[in-house]
Amino acid sequence: MNPKFPEPRFIPLNFQTLSIEEQTRRAEEFYATLDKRRTVRDFSDESVPFELIEQAIRAAGTAPSGANMQPWRFVIVKDAEIKRKIRVAAEEEEYKSYHGRMSDKWLRRLATLGTDEHKPFLEIAPYLIVVFRITSTAENGETEPTYYSQESVGIAVGMLLAALHNAGLATLTHTPSPMKFLQEILGRPKTEVPFVLIPVGLPATRALVPDISRKPLEDIMIVL
Ligand SMILES: Cc1cc2nc3c(=O)[nH]c(=O)nc-3n(C[C@H](O)[C@H](O)[C@H](O)COP(=O)(O)O)c2cc1C
Repeated sequence: MNPKFPEPRFIPLNFQTLSIEEQTRRAEEFYATLDKRRTVRDFSDESVPFELIEQAIRAAGTAPSGANMQPWRFVIVKDAEIKRKIRVAAEEEEYKSYHGRMSDKWLRRLATLGTDEHKPFLEIAPYLIVVFRITSTAENGETEPTYYSQESVGIAVGMLLAALHNAGLATLTHTPSPMKFLQEILGRPKTEVPFVLIPVGLPATRALVPDISRKPLEDIMIVL
């Protein structure tokens, strides 16, 4: 070990060994749960317990990260005025995207989803979780980049979506590009870059979702 660097410290791993039956049962159950997740764009304004959001953020915070830098920040917006500002700014960017910035190929893909520049859910959903990617840290006057922050935050967001879904909440993974306005409205520093905006709540009664399908296992898995 380099004497300039701290010594590693180790503790016993807390690992639960399961029977194959139990492993199989859990694997099937988890897949069945995740398979029911759908992106929801039609929300109810019904409130949901804040504790559920908090618990899901805790779950997301258990994600692995490059060099354990945990380069994420989750900003929860429940204030109506802030939500309104976000909607106005998002719709402005999305209008430009749908009317010139996106290619015909991209728009053709989105056509099957029925999305457009109108984002009423940004005011209707009880919570907006805005995830930021921390690009660098400053400690003792020394700045340092975070390592593999894209990958790390992507994994954490996946876990967050799974946790929220598992808690019976509906989510939308939203990327109103460019998202710089979120940094400004939410007063985050330049070292925190908006990653994704996730409205969370309950679906509207009789909410509809696009009739799309998932690739079968043979198309997504290669075994060598
Ligand atoms: C990185 C990413 C960005 C997305 N951005 C948007 C978005 O800006 N607006 C939107 O309506 N859906 C967005 N989606 C949702 C996708 O359209 C949706 O996940 C996909 O159509 C599959 O549907 P499902 O989530 O119901 O399985 C995004 C999803 C991902 C993973």
